[in-house]
Amino acid sequence: MTDSTPQAILAGNEAEYTARVAPGGAAFSAPDSLSLLEAALLEGVRLPSSCRNGTCRACMSRLLAGSVRYRIEWPGLSPDEKDDGFILPCVACATSDVVFEPVAGA
Ligand code: FES
Repeated sequence: MTDSTPQAILAGNEAEYTARVAPGGAAFSAPDSLSLLEAALLEGVRLPSSCRNGTCRACMSRLLAGSVRYRIEWPGLSPDEKDDGFILPCVACATSDVVFEPVAGA
């Protein structure tokens, strides 16, 4: 029988991490080949989003633990915002287990 879990569908040589959304602690698997937003949606975890390309900032979140890399060279964050721990989950891929808190619209 074929394994049809998201993890099996995405199987390959990619690393897979655990992402947790604060507050509340919803958790989902975050393969390094998917953005955090894509990985969340794949597992039914809803996050704020709009453009999904790193420009509108609707998904802006604060990274509380872990690390990410970006798919695009200049995600819509200032250097100060990056230094302060803000991320854009629609274009950020986990490079470790992560915990983040959506802040857009706060
Ligand atoms: S959804 Fe627009 S920047 Fe993430």
